[in-house]
Amino acid sequence: MRCQMLRDARFRALLSMRLSEFAMPTPPHINCERLIDRLATFNRIGALPGGGNCRLALSDEDHAGRDLLVRWMDELGLAVTVDAIGNIIGARSGREDIAPVMFGSHVDTVGTGGRYDGLYGVLAGLELCEALGEAGATTRRPLALVAFTNEEGSRFAPYAMGSLVYAGGTALEAAYAVRGIDGKTVGEELKRIGYAGAANPGWLKPYAYLELHIEQGPILEDEGLVIGAVEGITGLIWTEITVTGRAAHAGTTPIHLRRDAAYVAGEIVAFLRRLAHGLGGHQRCTAGRIELYPNLVNVIAERAVLTVDLRNTDATQLQAAQRELAACLDRLAAQENVTIATRSLARFEPVAFPDEIVSLVEATARELGLSCRRLPSGAGHDAQMMARLCPSGMIFVPSVGGLSHNVREETKPEHLHAGAEVLLNAVLKLAA
Ligand code: GLV
Ligand code: MN
Ligand code: MN
Repeated sequence: MRCQMLRDARFRALLSMRLSEFAMPTPPHINCERLIDRLATFNRIGALPGGGNCRLALSDEDHAGRDLLVRWMDELGLAVTVDAIGNIIGARSGREDIAPVMFGSHVDTVGTGGRYDGLYGVLAGLELCEALGEAGATTRRPLALVAFTNEEGSRFAPYAMGSLVYAGGTALEAAYAVRGIDGKTVGEELKRIGYAGAANPGWLKPYAYLELHIEQGPILEDEGLVIGAVEGITGLIWTEITVTGRAAHAGTTPIHLRRDAAYVAGEIVAFLRRLAHGLGGHQRCTAGRIELYPNLVNVIAERAVLTVDLRNTDATQLQAAQRELAACLDRLAAQENVTIATRSLARFEPVAFPDEIVSLVEATARELGLSCRRLPSGAGHDAQMMARLCPSGMIFVPSVGGLSHNVREETKPEHLHAGAEVLLNAVLKLAA
């Protein structure tokens, strides 16, 4: 309780600090052209037709991206450490040898990823370090730029694996044993690409963690705002569902004799839409992956494997969604004479960021003359895991058309610039 009060007092002092109070010979500034050039150079790795990227976690493309990031960190004089789950941390010394301010995000992508999801936060952090170097500035606290392993979770579940291990939320050995959609394990692939480092995840305990990210949704753009001060992250449940029926002839098997796994998968997908409507605006339900066996035009499907992603910012509603899905699966199994098995891939409760960090982001944006609102995140992020370890928060900038996890993901240069300035100045306050 006393610690909490001390912390609150410290954060109140941070909030009342003005940007002019950093006592630096030349105020550091983000060079937006340099940031955009770096984004373009990095995004040649794993480039897809249409403008996006595929750098699935621990793939050859992720490997090449990591190598480039480490080279850039070295060039800026950051001390690079790779930990045993492959998180890359570039540290910049402060005037005092105390807990650092950490910032960053991830450089892996989904299979049809855009150019900014994750990478923007990491390269804005790199630009922040370069801007400080140019200004000849040393902060009181050390700084630590991080790129976490496998934030996306598309290849290996759960998502945010690197930050989860870093924050002590799952054991390293359990993460190593996770098998991906292509049958390889995290441990094998980390070693193959040379990023199973020597340091223990969690080796550097931050004073605070701040993550800059694109919004990936439509709110800021719809309201004509530039900065989002993220209040917290949605709760999420990922489940893999296997429906087993019986393969049979498509032309000769009457409907009443079918045990059709494809039909059941279709019913589950349709149910998810009804579930989302039934539970209201904050409930999200998605079947992102469906595989049929034997997947032939004239054979009734014997087996369907699909994934369900349920999200809600309200923990009680999320539990209700899970219960309703379970009841639907029982009903379908009985009605269609199939068996249905489920496997949990991820489950995280909603996270609320401390008000001190949310207020810090808001105050910094306002001081820079940028419009800002508070909002929750419907996407998962590394900050959600880091919140277990230290006061954490996020800064959002608008996504054009609210589009993300799509090769056409876009954010305007002026918004990339604004977000990086907010990151720089909020980090300076935390590090002062
Ligand atoms: C991570 O990108 C997620 O929200 O699925
Ligand atoms: Mn991301
Ligand atoms: Mn993503």
